[in-house]
Amino acid sequence: MTTDYKALQREHDPSDVYGLVVALPAQIGHAREIANSFVDGVSASGFARVGVCGMGGSAIGGDLARAFLGERLSAPIISVRGYQPPAYLRDDSLVVLSSYSGNTGETLASYDALKGGTSVVVAITGGGELAQRCDADGVPVCRIPGGMPPRTAVGYSLVPLLMILRVAGLASFADWEIAEAEKVTRDVCAKNSIETSGGRAGDLAGSLVGTIPFVYAAAGLLEGVARRWSCQFEENAKTLSHYGLYTELNHNEIVGWQNPADCLAGTSVISLCDTDDHPLAARQREIGLEIVAPLTAGVHRVDSPAGGRLARMIGALVFGDLVSVYLALRLGVNPAPVEKIDFLKSQLNQGDVDA
Ligand code: PA5
Repeated sequence: MTTDYKALQREHDPSDVYGLVVALPAQIGHAREIANSFVDGVSASGFARVGVCGMGGSAIGGDLARAFLGERLSAPIISVRGYQPPAYLRDDSLVVLSSYSGNTGETLASYDALKGGTSVVVAITGGGELAQRCDADGVPVCRIPGGMPPRTAVGYSLVPLLMILRVAGLASFADWEIAEAEKVTRDVCAKNSIETSGGRAGDLAGSLVGTIPFVYAAAGLLEGVARRWSCQFEENAKTLSHYGLYTELNHNEIVGWQNPADCLAGTSVISLCDTDDHPLAARQREIGLEIVAPLTAGVHRVDSPAGGRLARMIGALVFGDLVSVYLALRLGVNPAPVEKIDFLKSQLNQGDVDA
């Protein structure tokens, strides 16, 4: 029996998170325009490393950029998800502060900690305290449209980051790769749209109901995507999730697939696959899944769509975003609010915006 996702959406998604997810292709195009005008004013080069300071939905862009660019990066990208950037980011580095709201305590603390060094700092933000501090200090700000849940602005955090890296001479990619990513993402959204009962994304969401999704991918192109899937299950579907990477998980986590025995049957495994996966990692995936398959409620293989690296990565990402929203609808959960994050931030911020 097909699920009437349209009816479920009318009931449970008043903020239209579904609409924001399928708007990602258009967002990629818009982000490119914003970033084009921004990078015109940025001239810098000769960096030893890149820092991306941000949390949650504003941090994932750093993981995605690192995974997409791979060997095309001429300096490492270090993600800082906390209050204290490593001392080596204070000098000779390009540091991108990424906060959708501009009010995230960890990101503001990182901004302050970097002051006084020789590193070049830029911000990607929708406004808030971060934009104010940057404006006061003459730090360049790539302003992105505000008013959405931060995790639905992934195009706005990723595309400007990529273009900043390119203008700084740290990475190479062609404009057609962004255009192709926009097209492939649009195709994935169309094939899995609410108009088509959610397509394969809708079916997969149905298989995940009542389970804890474990999202596995090989280290490489899809590692940021695996993290993203897991975070989207948590924030959109309010469902605990976990992610791991072949090959590392076969050196520790695989042993844990034994206890608590009763709980294992309440998990699902989603195995993300890409054509660029290392052949030995692919072999490890097969062997690892042979071990896990009898223990879990189900193993679901998801292949990235056809295309170049960026298109495959963002295509696999938006497919996961759709699965998470359909899972929310199946569970009767509103995908928009993140009350526990809001509570935590309000507790931390009592009297101190930098908390
Ligand atoms: O998705 C979310 O709401 C969170 O993961 C936020 O992105 C995170 O709390 C950081 O906030 P911001 O993106 O505003 O810096």
